[in-house]
Amino acid sequence: MAAKLLVLAAVGVAHCYAASLPSPNCSLSSLTLPAVPGIKILSTEANSVRNYTFVNREVANATAADFFDFCNVTVVYTHPGWNDTVNLITYLPDGWNGRFLAVGGGGMAAGGEALLHLLPTITPLLKRKFAISTTDGGHPSDLAAAVDVDPPWVLTSPGNVDLPMLVNFASRSLHDMAVLGKAFVGAAYGTAPKYSYFFGGSTGGQQGHMLAQRYPDDFDGIVAYKPAINWAKFFFSNVYAKLTMDVAREYPSPCELDALSAAAVEACDELDGVKDGIISRPALCLFDPRTLAGTAFDCDGASSTFSNISTQVAHATYTGPRGPNGEFRWYGFSKDVSLHAKGTGPAALACPETGGDCSAPAFHMSDLWLRYFYAKDPSLNLTHITRERFDDLFLVAVDEYESVIGTANPELSRFRRAGGKMLSWHGMADQLVPVNGSTDYYDQVLAKDAKAQDFYRLFLAPGADHDGAGITVSDEDSLDYIINWVEHGKANETLRAAGTTGLGVPAQRDICMYPRVQHYKGGDPTLPSSFTCT
Ligand SMILES: *[C@@H]1O[C@H](CO)[C@@H](O)[C@H](O)[C@H]1NC(C)=O
Ligand SMILES: *[C@@H]1O[C@H](CO)[C@@H](O)[C@H](O)[C@H]1NC(C)=O
Ligand SMILES: *[C@@H]1O[C@H](CO)[C@@H](O)[C@H](O)[C@H]1NC(C)=O
Ligand SMILES: *[C@@H]1O[C@H](CO)[C@@H](O)[C@H](O)[C@H]1NC(C)=O
Ligand SMILES: *[C@@H]1O[C@H](CO)[C@@H](O)[C@H](O)[C@H]1NC(C)=O
Ligand SMILES: *[C@@H]1O[C@H](CO)[C@@H](O)[C@H](O)[C@H]1NC(C)=O
Ligand SMILES: *[C@@H]1O[C@H](CO)[C@@H](O)[C@H](O)[C@H]1NC(C)=O
Ligand SMILES: *[C@@H]1O[C@H](CO)[C@@H](O)[C@H](O)[C@H]1NC(C)=O
Ligand SMILES: *[C@@H]1O[C@H](CO)[C@@H](O)[C@H](O)[C@H]1NC(C)=O
Repeated sequence: MAAKLLVLAAVGVAHCYAASLPSPNCSLSSLTLPAVPGIKILSTEANSVRNYTFVNREVANATAADFFDFCNVTVVYTHPGWNDTVNLITYLPDGWNGRFLAVGGGGMAAGGEALLHLLPTITPLLKRKFAISTTDGGHPSDLAAAVDVDPPWVLTSPGNVDLPMLVNFASRSLHDMAVLGKAFVGAAYGTAPKYSYFFGGSTGGQQGHMLAQRYPDDFDGIVAYKPAINWAKFFFSNVYAKLTMDVAREYPSPCELDALSAAAVEACDELDGVKDGIISRPALCLFDPRTLAGTAFDCDGASSTFSNISTQVAHATYTGPRGPNGEFRWYGFSKDVSLHAKGTGPAALACPETGGDCSAPAFHMSDLWLRYFYAKDPSLNLTHITRERFDDLFLVAVDEYESVIGTANPELSRFRRAGGKMLSWHGMADQLVPVNGSTDYYDQVLAKDAKAQDFYRLFLAPGADHDGAGITVSDEDSLDYIINWVEHGKANETLRAAGTTGLGVPAQRDICMYPRVQHYKGGDPTLPSSFTCT
């Protein structure tokens, strides 16, 4: 009954004050944009889409609330002289909430519709009636397909990277998305968006940081989590344990690495005052796996001793890549990261089912970037490279790519002046993007601007990995946070996270704003109130 009245009331309002519940004008003639410098629009298509769902029926069944009515605007454009073709999609919903929201990508995908079908993000966003844009950044991408391992677009000829396409992926197409997306919103609803947001994690997190650094006027609020910033450096961390194994031509057993992961957690779990299978105070954790070489461990009931190589692999995972004289190149991973789990851990193993020696597969993004962008030689086999070649490629990567896609420029004063706000969070047990890359960047920003927390905040989530395992932050909560901050000036000192502890127990935490860290103060460890930020 109450629901029916609400619907009637909404219809009444729409009838009397059309402006308060705007519907888009989806006719092509209303969507013709004024000229945008540097962009040539090749085609625009607009379709009114009725009752459409993004819910993947193999994953979850859609209910009525998962079906949407919107105007689907697709524009294909080029940057004259760059010989590129970028596809930008914008969904303009009926009952628009007055806000524009750009959705970022993942892996090699800048974004694009295929990604929206893959990630669970789009449905809650359409339910909340944002006008949404996503761009393919100029290249086809399908996270599940071979194009993301051997991208046909990267080399225009042997040894020559398609630089405009790279720039599109790293930065330019993101700015275009803001400019064109907002223009379509204005044209279709007859009014500009009141607020503009960007939302993305991983590659999307890199994109959010790039926008704050390079295009500080584009968005009022940015959510950029588990960000793949320091792009030119961190892919070497993902394959440093592999290098250690390949150079020694020795591969530990998965069981041995599991035992080392367990020993690390055992050693450092309780440094925050509570046993929960999570290392929340890494700075206090002095665990050195190398001290365990030769000591006994249990593998599925069989007693064994840790090999030298297994402890070296764990050590390499934690320290991260080093140069020929032991000099720091980049960070490693936290000690509560599962070393080889799911085949994507930093010391991933591939073991024949029939038994015999394992090998060390390369993280696909590292493999791709080292072969295509750094060596510019797709035939390079990472399994065979020497320490010297590995280190040379690191130097090439920094030299040629840092300013293009490194996304680690701490100069955010223009973003501050523009009134922008950026929320970042990062799982401390991230197994793909080392969390210390986020704190390293944040430290640099703080060094330039001691009050950076006024407009840019980083929260660390103890025990959260890259894929949503552990105690993690929901899309909804991070969106609420940025909207409250931008529109009402309200921003909590903590961010709500939920999930399961390292012991598999359901729990909630209010995670801390870096540089503060979480510590147990007593009480039920599944409740946020039992922890404090110190
Ligand atoms: C949509 O815009 C076009 C062109 O501006 C106009 O002719 C048409 O009447 C508009 N439609 C509605 C429903 O407002
Ligand atoms: C929307 O589509 C679903 C599934 O195809 C259907 O069950 C439902 O009746 C449709 N709703 C409307 C309002 O057309
Ligand atoms: C979706 O619905 C079908 C038919 O009702 C059912 O067989 C299936 O188990 C459901 N799938 C999920 C993931 O709930
Ligand atoms: C939006 O339009 C594009 C271009 O026609 C099309 O490829 C895409 O499938 C459409 N998306 C939806 C949700 O209708
Ligand atoms: C432009 O790109 C197309 C492929 O997208 C290619 O076939 C063509 O040779 C390129 N033109 C120039 C001048 O590079
Ligand atoms: C990451 O930073 C913490 C301090 O926040 C430090 O204790 C730890 O050693 C660093 N990890 C790596 C791999 O450098
Ligand atoms: C242990 O492994 C490291 C790295 O592979 C090697 O440098 C060292 O010589 C080995 N130590 C022993 C005792 O085998
Ligand atoms: C790289 O070398 C390894 C070990 O020799 C081999 O198993 C693998 O197939 C090679 N990869 C490619 C892509 O050739
Ligand atoms: C902010 O924190 C307070 C208490 O710590 C909590 O009650 C409130 O729900 C939080 N607000 C948001 C938007 O998370």
